[in-house]
Amino acid sequence: MSILSNDALTKENKGNALAIGAEARKAKALDNSIIDSTIGMLYDEEGKFFTFKTVERASCELSGREKYSYGATCGTKEFHEALYHWIFRQYYDEFKENTYLGCIATPGGTGAICNTFANYLEDGQKVLLPDYMWTNYIQVAREEHLGYTTFHLFDSEGNFNLSDFEDKCLSLKEEQGRIVVVINDPCENPTGYSMSYTDWIGVVEVLNRISRDSTPVVLIYDMAYIDYDKRGFDASRNNIRLFEKLNDSVLTIMCFSGSKTLGLYGLRIGAQIAIAHTEKDIIEFNTANDFSARGKWSGASTLGQNIIVKVLTSFKDEFAEELEYARRLLINRADAFIEEAKSVGLKHLPYSCGFFVTIPVDNPLKAFEDLKKAGLYVLPIQNAIRLTLSSITLEEVKRAVHIIKENI
Ligand SMILES: Cc1ncc(COP(=O)(O)O)c(C=O)c1O
Repeated sequence: MSILSNDALTKENKGNALAIGAEARKAKALDNSIIDSTIGMLYDEEGKFFTFKTVERASCELSGREKYSYGATCGTKEFHEALYHWIFRQYYDEFKENTYLGCIATPGGTGAICNTFANYLEDGQKVLLPDYMWTNYIQVAREEHLGYTTFHLFDSEGNFNLSDFEDKCLSLKEEQGRIVVVINDPCENPTGYSMSYTDWIGVVEVLNRISRDSTPVVLIYDMAYIDYDKRGFDASRNNIRLFEKLNDSVLTIMCFSGSKTLGLYGLRIGAQIAIAHTEKDIIEFNTANDFSARGKWSGASTLGQNIIVKVLTSFKDEFAEELEYARRLLINRADAFIEEAKSVGLKHLPYSCGFFVTIPVDNPLKAFEDLKKAGLYVLPIQNAIRLTLSSITLEEVKRAVHIIKENI
């Protein structure tokens, strides 16, 4: 007989990125030639943790109250406004005119995903996830008493699989009469795939077809890596603009990550941002999600919110330049990976930009163990291994390609 409940007895953080990352860091501390390509944080070319100077400056300039006081559960108005301006950019006025917006500050993008999973499905229903995904979605779903099912992210040509996306949406509509679907774009984790404008038009058309009879649909737009899109700020914002065209019964909830955009990983700050087409939906969004936030974490970090407000208002241009530099670090590593992989004949899934690249393998756990012995830590995932470009230097990227080629 255990003191844990029967349900809790089956809970264990096994093989996840944080646990493997901790093991890799320990190994690297003992032998610096080991490559730690596990955790999704950005490091510079000297192998040091990358900190945005504007973020540091903003943090130093805040008063005690601005850093440590309690705030409202949903976050401050200034935080909401700063994020709206950053995310919608030149389209903000248009969104204000044509839609209803709501925002809840959360502990990271993870908090935004938790709240959304919690409030738009009944217990036991399923969320729709891509087959190549950030696997923590599954753990969050479990915590919120939900199941999941997947759609194929790619078709046989390596393009976005719109047809399977539609089929799986239709099956869920039939099964449970409502749909909550996650799309992580651009720079998808773990593949680095970014959807085109045409792919997004297709998604909007599918969701509009499915919700024509007022079936409730929630599109969770996990935008964790949005500011690392190598096409620049405009490409991703043009895609977001398409959400204005969704039907009244489709609610878009964007999950913003302060970890990725501003490198505030450990501070745990993010936001759940809703785009609704009726006032009723946004009132309900604010009420239910404010309640969940209070019940789960009470309030998000005041320090995190105020750093973000200062950086995105007082230091915006300088911060954008720093982001450009960070993007360039990733592009250089990705170019080196692709060139080296091509030269040795190492296959990888379609990649466009971002922190990660994915290599299909038959036995991911064996590959993980073999690569570990050869001095390379990667993340084993379903049918593949994930190499993290953000945490390794150019020299390590090239070395990693050869280690993989020789050991799997
Ligand atoms: C795809 C994706 N979404 C969301 C998150 C959540 O990040 P955080 O909670 O730190 O903002 C991550 C983190 O790795 C991620 O990779």
